[in-house]
Parts: sequence; structure tokens; C-alpha cells
Amino acid sequence: MKIAIVTGASSGMGREFCRIMDNEFDALWIIARRENRLIELKEQLKTPCKIFPLDLAKKESFEVIENALKKENAEVKCLVNCAGFGVFGRYDEVSDQTQQDMIDINVKALVSMCNICLPFMNKGGRIINLCSSSSFFPLAEFNVYASTKAFVSSYSRALSVELKDRKIAVTSVSPGWVETEFFTHAEKNNAKHAPKYYKPMYSTKRVVEKAYKDSKKGKRESICGLFVKTHKILGKLLPYSVANFMWKTELKK
Ligand SMILES: NC(=O)c1ccc[n+]([C@@H]2O[C@H](COP(=O)([O-])OP(=O)(O)OC[C@H]3O[C@@H](n4cnc5c(N)ncnc54)[C@H](OP(=O)(O)O)[C@@H]3O)[C@@H](O)[C@H]2O)c1
Repeated sequence: MKIAIVTGASSGMGREFCRIMDNEFDALWIIARRENRLIELKEQLKTPCKIFPLDLAKKESFEVIENALKKENAEVKCLVNCAGFGVFGRYDEVSDQTQQDMIDINVKALVSMCNICLPFMNKGGRIINLCSSSSFFPLAEFNVYASTKAFVSSYSRALSVELKDRKIAVTSVSPGWVETEFFTHAEKNNAKHAPKYYKPMYSTKRVVEKAYKDSKKGKRESICGLFVKTHKILGKLLPYSVANFMWKTELKK
């Protein structure tokens, strides 16, 4: 049975990836905490879906997925790691627990999903990891989130080299602001240091369609939009003090 696995399938880009992949595989395995959202998605798709209402901050969740892969003798054709969140605010505005949670989901869960799925992947398999334009340079007042995404960028690039011989492609997707539920969580602290605006705001469909095409072409990176591409170049060219000054002008305080 050839399957695709999507984490963070209950909303935003994860849900959009499922819609784009509908009809392409024998089954979609969809993972997130909100079971009702996963059931809703399953009803909308033509592909049979297996629902995993799991919290990826918990170690035992990965055992559930690994055991299911073994039991069904599934071949993972595509793994999409979308589960993730960010919270704005300075080090003293975001609790230590929330900072640790960001690391658990954005970094540790993503690595575990790759490690669990890779034994079940063959030549032509693909991994899509949701990174972010916030990985382009260190971001004060969004520090832990941006740092987790810098990890995802570096990890995905090196993993794609490690998997070259197995002909498995790894694509790191680095969007700018995308219209999803991300901001509901990101602003939950009412941090003084959140951005004043989110511009340009890209549609979920546009970002995900490009990411999926890029993954099929075996690209290591997917960046949607000239604005975000320019940011990436500036991140490489500008001294950190200048890049940080520019970012700070976008913040409320
Ligand atoms: N939106 C943006 O502007 C933007 C920009 C760049 C990168 N990204 C990245 O894109 C990815 C997708 O985010 P999105 O924009 O689509 O946001 P979203 O709509 O908030 O989706 C996040 C998904 O992650 C899941 N999730 C969060 N914590 C989880 C946990 N503990 N266990 C299992 N699943 C969990 C959520 O499901 P449940 O709540 O149901 O568990 C949800 O399905 C994230 O990695 C995000 O960092 C977003």
C-alpha cells in the first residue's frame, strides 16, 4: 500500500497538502490533535484516510505511527511535516514551557517523523519539511521559532545529501506570511513585540501548490514569491545588525 503521511493536517498548509495529494496514493495518513478536524477532512477527500489524533509533543505518539507502519507494511511515498507553531515575544514574554514546546514540535517531532518513515521509503520517495522565511536570519522577539526553523533548513539540506543514493528527495519549504491559523497561536501572548502587520500575506493554496511542484522536481528548497526570495538574498548579504534593524521596524515596539 502506497501512502502519504501529513502532520498538521487539521488546518492551514497541512490540510491544503492533503487536498492537493487527493487521488494520488492508496491512502493518506493524517495526523494532528484535533480529531474532529481530521474527520471533517477525511469526509472531503476521495482517498481513504487513516486518522491519527495524536499530540506530537508526546513520545508515545511516534510509537503509534511506527507500529501502524509495521502492521500495514506500508510504503511511504511522501511525508509532509507541517505540524508546527510559533509565538511572538521576547525571551521574558514567552514562558519557558512554550519555548520548549516549539522545540518539541518544530524540531524534535519533525526529526522523529523522518526517522520513523525512512525505513518505509523507497527510491522516488519524498519528504517535505515546513521551514520558514524566519530561518533566513536570527530574529529577536521571534527567536526560538526562527531558531527552530533554521534547524529545519540545515537539517533538511544535509538529510537530502544523505538520501541522495537512495534517491529520496527532501524539500525544505520556506514561506513568508501565509493565511492560516498560525497567527491565532502566534499572538496568543499579546506580546508587545509582535509585528505591526503581515504583508505580503500569501494564500495557502499558492504556497502549497508551488511546494508540491518543487518537491516533485526534487528541489531542495521551495520559496514562493519574489518578496520572500529577496529576503533570502538579503539574509545572506546583509550584516546581522542591518537585517535586525529592518525586522525591528516591522514590530510594534
Ligand atoms: N502561516 C505562516 O505564516 C507560516 C509561515 C512560515 C512557516 N509556517 C510553518 O508552516 C507549518 C504549518 O503551519 P500553518 O501555517 O499551516 O499553521 P496552522 O494552520 O496553525 O497549522 C498548524 C498545524 O500543526 C498542528 N500541530 C500543532 N501542534 C501540534 C501537536 N502538539 N501535535 C500534533 N499536531 C500539532 C495543528 O494541529 P492541532 O492543533 O489539531 O494539533 C495544525 O494542524 C508550521 O510548521 C509553521 O511553522 C507557517
